[in-house]
Amino acid sequence: MNNFEYQNPTKIIFGRDSEAKVGAETAKFSKKVLLHFGGASARKKGLLDRIKASLSSAGVEWTELGGVRPNPVLSLVNSGIELCRKEKIGFILAVGGGSVIDSAKAIAVGVPYSGDVWDFYTGKAVPASALPLGTVLTIPAAGSESSSGSVITNEAGLLKRALNHDLLYPRFSILNPVLAFTLPKNQRAYGVADIMAHLMERYFTNVPAVEFTDRLIEATLKTVISAAPRIFSDEPDYDAWADVMWAGTIAHNNLLDTGRIGDWASHDIEHELSGIYDIPHGAGLAIIFPSWMRYTLSHDPARFAQFAARVWHVEPYFFDTNRVAEEGIQRLSKFWSSLGLPSRLADLGIGPENLSLMADKCTSGDTKTVGHFVELRKSDIEKIYNAAL
Ligand code: NZQ
Ligand code: ZN
Repeated sequence: MNNFEYQNPTKIIFGRDSEAKVGAETAKFSKKVLLHFGGASARKKGLLDRIKASLSSAGVEWTELGGVRPNPVLSLVNSGIELCRKEKIGFILAVGGGSVIDSAKAIAVGVPYSGDVWDFYTGKAVPASALPLGTVLTIPAAGSESSSGSVITNEAGLLKRALNHDLLYPRFSILNPVLAFTLPKNQRAYGVADIMAHLMERYFTNVPAVEFTDRLIEATLKTVISAAPRIFSDEPDYDAWADVMWAGTIAHNNLLDTGRIGDWASHDIEHELSGIYDIPHGAGLAIIFPSWMRYTLSHDPARFAQFAARVWHVEPYFFDTNRVAEEGIQRLSKFWSSLGLPSRLADLGIGPENLSLMADKCTSGDTKTVGHFVELRKSDIEKIYNAAL
């Protein structure tokens, strides 16, 4: 196990009706907030009205900025930065999923910065300060509610890029599984794929002797695999939703990174897809991850076999590690298909036209490698895309 330091500062407020506490929690930071949300979903079942009532009763005033769309874009971030400066906003409250939260994070670091906020996403500058932010989560998926990351698409060049910084951790996140009951079925499946991908990105590591975090990741994966089919039932199953929502946060709050180095190639490879084609992140991952696994299996068949045996209960065929490993990948794909997820690029109408361009963008023109478990070059990434056609 590697040396590590771990601190996740996000306060989690979990459970039924927990959004009623949003006013009191927000008032601890500022009485003037930006209320940031996406489309119609924030208003479903009166959520936004309940949040406003809670803010009002805590003496908090707000300015609204809705309209964040999935795969959030830089232009709205820039509008949010201007609005916050004009209204002298002291706190950002994001109501929604990863897209709204990531947009809120970008606004938060952009307000005190005199340059272009995109500088942070290209690595040209590092944030020195940020407005504090909080979240009310409506979809278990991205884990942004307690992560230090934000992923934004710059419409110029369709570049989808991530920023990671400690200043981006939300001060609090309110997680009421009931708020997710209104999710359409496809979004449920995308969320499950993303949560599992966050776990698997961490699982495939070259760091030896990480048994404890291996076991934690396996347990979290098994919980999601068992609960996921139950969140599709027409009659909402609170306990299943609660397991998926909490697992989704734990999957990406960096606890499961401790002492190990995750891979993250599948995420980088996927971000090129959702950047160009505007597809849901979870759908892209469901296609790319198994393709990445097949491509990298030979690097460490024993780790893939452990994944297969412990997570998917594949019988250990003695002397045939590869067979066990391949069966694990097969069971993952079958499980995702059973949730209605796509398995091939063709399922989303994507052909070979941009594969080389995406591999080029992903590796900044073949000047850098992607992934830590296996360091992939442009030609490797092109093969992974091709195998997913
Ligand atoms: O636009 P609205 O009406 O709000 O609808 C949303 C959206 O269409 C809908 N939705 C959300 N909650 C709902 C609901 N519909 C009905 N009832 C509800 N309760 O769901 C759709 C998807 O929302 P979105 O926020 O895009 O989903 P998700 O949470 O999966 O976020 C995806 C984004 O997060 C990024 C992804 O790249 C993608 O851009 N990620 C962010 C990460 C981070 N910051 O740490 C890590 C991830 O790996 C990921 O890259
Ligand atoms: Zn993800």
